[in-house]
Amino acid sequence: MGPKPMTSLDPTTTAERRGELFGVHIPELQLSDEEYRAGFVAAALEPGETYVELGSGHGRGLRIAALEFEARATGIEYLEDANERALATAERSGVAHLVRVVRDDLRRYDPAHADVVHMHLGPAFHDVLAPRLERLLTSGARVIAAGWQVPGWLPLEHALDTWDGGYVYRPADPRMHATWGASYELGGIVVHELQVHADLEAIEVRLVGSGTNATISARRAARGQSIYVEVPAAHGGPLEAWARCRSGRFTRRGQPKRPAT
Ligand SMILES: C[S@@+](CC[C@H](N)C(=O)[O-])C[C@H]1O[C@@H](n2cnc3c(N)ncnc32)[C@H](O)[C@@H]1O
Repeated sequence: MGPKPMTSLDPTTTAERRGELFGVHIPELQLSDEEYRAGFVAAALEPGETYVELGSGHGRGLRIAALEFEARATGIEYLEDANERALATAERSGVAHLVRVVRDDLRRYDPAHADVVHMHLGPAFHDVLAPRLERLLTSGARVIAAGWQVPGWLPLEHALDTWDGGYVYRPADPRMHATWGASYELGGIVVHELQVHADLEAIEVRLVGSGTNATISARRAARGQSIYVEVPAAHGGPLEAWARCRSGRFTRRGQPKRPAT
């Protein structure tokens, strides 16, 4: 079959039109065992948890996750020979029952069941994967991004302290979706900055207390963006950020901002 004809609205890349898969297919660009271990410790990978590696290459991470951390490990990898090698490695290490590989385009894979997702892929993939992971993962799931930061996401601080080879996130945890930044007062008005770390269809800032729960800002917001809200300096109550979740309900995001802080 020849290449697909291109239309002006065709969202596929030129590589895909040539019948090639988006991505750099060099499984030899692999992390060391030490780097994998450090990432797993930083993400607190537990026995029995489900580990998903997007772009699992030769399966080094799958083997360590299964053998040393007793996780159930799934690798998503497009290269057939890399997958064969990953399964052979798992077999040799006696953990074949805990390891499986899926030959697929990792951008399409649904990781909803994962406790820990690992990616060592680079910025072009992060742009595609970040909104999917925010939407599909459960709130307790951790994402290990080896090498590159995911723009706009808030890394877990304790992980930054223990590992300098990458970043660990909880992209679907509502508490990680927004953090309060600087505040400053100007002529009886206090301006508060709210930093947004996930793509949110609707976010509201609510003024709590004084007998009223007023909504003072409501809008759509993208990760990496800051929202500025103005509050009369006389208002003594806290501010809360609320956003719409998958079910359509509004839930609180981040921690409340107390006036004195
Ligand atoms: C930089 S290597 C990382 C390998 C391994 N995770 C590691 O860190 O040692 C990226 C891997 O992702 C695979 N890959 C790249 N794009 C892909 C895609 N769209 N779908 C599935 N696998 C892909 C490549 O074949 C390669 O094995």
